[in-house]
Amino acid sequence: MSERYGVFGNPVNHSKSPAIHAAFAAACNQDLAYEAILAPRDGFADCVRVFVAAGGCGANVTVPFKQEACRLATRLTPRARLAGAVNTLSFDSTGWLGDNTDGAGLLRDLTNNLGCTISGTRVLLLGAGGAARGVLGPLLEAAPSRLVIANRTPASAHELAERMTGAGKLGACSYPQLAGESFDLVINATSASLAGEPLALPDGIFAPGSLAYDMMYGQGQTPFLLLAASHGATRLADGLGMLVEQAAEAFHLWRGIRPATAPVMAMLRADRNECGSR
Ligand code: ATR
Repeated sequence: MSERYGVFGNPVNHSKSPAIHAAFAAACNQDLAYEAILAPRDGFADCVRVFVAAGGCGANVTVPFKQEACRLATRLTPRARLAGAVNTLSFDSTGWLGDNTDGAGLLRDLTNNLGCTISGTRVLLLGAGGAARGVLGPLLEAAPSRLVIANRTPASAHELAERMTGAGKLGACSYPQLAGESFDLVINATSASLAGEPLALPDGIFAPGSLAYDMMYGQGQTPFLLLAASHGATRLADGLGMLVEQAAEAFHLWRGIRPATAPVMAMLRADRNECGSR
């Protein structure tokens, strides 16, 4: 019988993870089944326990359960502990191992797929919620010359920077305080576009030749990338690559094989272009 994996979320029916892992499994000749599992908002732990009791080997975790998964895991990888969130669980007789592959996924997309060098460059991270926290450690490890967290609520940016003290050079500020600065890489980790509200970014933050990266993705260009283009950013990337790379990292953790990501990214992009409203 196929070994079982799944993604737990609420909502979860929009998830591309089943298609991504099915493609990885086919390409790597792995006999596994991967399903999307809708967990009740107050019933995540029980839902995962049922899955494990039925033979589940591993799971991805998405909104809104990443912090809860972090609390429930028996053991955490250092990067999951630093992120305070778990997006990948592995189950065995010793318990639940919690990992976080989001930051590694972002870094792989930036460096391997987009040819971006982070070492020695100026990086701006927009947002100070769970998404920002999940990628901060790996971003710092890539040794930018400067890394600034800017947030609508500056206190949260300062809090996040303080958590990471000792991990590297880190600044924190509000959006207006960015005036006069410019960056080589600007990453959107806010959920502002979900509210349909543009970020109030000052002019000039995108250095010539900079890359604007949105951790969100959607049909067509995201609101943040449209805004970045209007501010002069010429290189734009959405989070579809990060989605596939974080999945590949999870697949590697579970199966010990690193799948090729380029064909799966191409498949998702083609699918997105063909199926307007999906
Ligand atoms: P999550 O943990 O899932 O990432 P979150 O903790 O609500 O979600 O964080 C969302 C991030 O998007 C925060 O940085 C939030 O800014 P605040 O800390 O000021 O709330 C940011 N965000 C959400 N809507 C925004 C908007 N309309 N404008 C600017 N920032 C916004």
